[in-house]
Amino acid sequence: MTQSLDDIRTRESKHVLQTYRRQPVAFVRGNGSHLYDVDGREYLDLVSGIGVTSLGHAHPGLAAAVAEQAQTLLHTSNLYYHPLQAEVAERLAALSELPRVFFCNSGTEAVEACLKFARRHWYTQGSPRHAFVALEGGFSGRTCGALSVTHDEHYRAPFMPLLGPVTFVNPSRPDQMAEAVSAETAAIIAEPIQGEGGVRPLSREMAEAIDVACRRTGALLIADEVQSGLGRTGQPFHARTLGLQPDLVSVGKALGSGVPVGAALVSARVAETISFGDHGTTYGGNLLACRAAAFFLSQLTDHGLLEHVRAAGAHFERRLRTLALRHPVIEEVRGAGLMWGLQLRAGAAAVAVEQARERGLLVNRTNDVVIRMLPALNISTADLDRAADVLDEVLATTDVAVPA
Ligand SMILES: Cc1ncc(COP(=O)(O)O)c(C=O)c1O
Repeated sequence: MTQSLDDIRTRESKHVLQTYRRQPVAFVRGNGSHLYDVDGREYLDLVSGIGVTSLGHAHPGLAAAVAEQAQTLLHTSNLYYHPLQAEVAERLAALSELPRVFFCNSGTEAVEACLKFARRHWYTQGSPRHAFVALEGGFSGRTCGALSVTHDEHYRAPFMPLLGPVTFVNPSRPDQMAEAVSAETAAIIAEPIQGEGGVRPLSREMAEAIDVACRRTGALLIADEVQSGLGRTGQPFHARTLGLQPDLVSVGKALGSGVPVGAALVSARVAETISFGDHGTTYGGNLLACRAAAFFLSQLTDHGLLEHVRAAGAHFERRLRTLALRHPVIEEVRGAGLMWGLQLRAGAAAVAVEQARERGLLVNRTNDVVIRMLPALNISTADLDRAADVLDEVLATTDVAVPA
């Protein structure tokens, strides 16, 4: 029996812990970059589960691989070997040039692992370092470790004291980075493009300041590529594009294209300081997760997905920059590949997201004033054009509804 949106909302409101303010729509089916709600209405999806469904919805190849795995073997734990972790680790190592992988279940766990491995590195060296340096506007997840390097006070305040010491540096002040990093710093953590913080790419100057600070003090670099990594920007990892060579990289989101899987990618010098039992998880890297990740990575590298992101992303960027010329409500266009943010005049983004949804287009608001778009990496240019056309209509009315 099909449930109506109202039925679902009423039932959820009784027993689901109310931590999410959901939008008034319930999806039951997907196909490529399209979602269908309980009433059969179609939506063009430029959110993709917040940058997760990298191959779109109900990808036939992924569905077949996952179904076959479910019929064969889903999970055995990390007490035993299985054949798929090595395959995914080889692929990730080849893409990242970081030779070792720790598998986990989400982005926040990947960050958590990176923070632990950074501290473990210094502990093993016999000169423990506890401190981290992070960036203002940064978001790395909600577990206590990841939250400690997440900047937004609203997320942090109820849970203090968190892991410390953590110093937050203004991303537009490279000089502050030099001051903040010392011989006490275990690691600097940075998103190459801040996602939740409003799609804000790290500047070349800040990337260079990070690189210089790491070389001067020996501090490790953790690149949080949970959102920006694995092809999202048209490159395997965006940190490399900025000339950075991280010791640790956190990934998640796109890796399983909807099957929960995360990973910490680890350099040789950090890996050799980690011992048996230092970290672990029951589910991390199980057969289901690895089968999905192996399928996604094969699409990314062997089936032209990276090239598609570059071409489709360049096309979409042109469309977005044209919108910015037409609509004064757009203050800035930021991003790379298929990760884009339109910063709107204060108050306009919430209106625009709602109006877009009413017209059948899903985009998401982040950092209050930014419309964020993280479509499936295989989205067609025709769908991107349709999205740009809907945004054009929406922004025309937003211009009027939210005057300067
Ligand atoms: C850069 C970054 N790091 C970490 C996380 C946390 O990932 P997850 O929500 O999968 O735990 C996110 C989630 O949005 C993210 O964008």
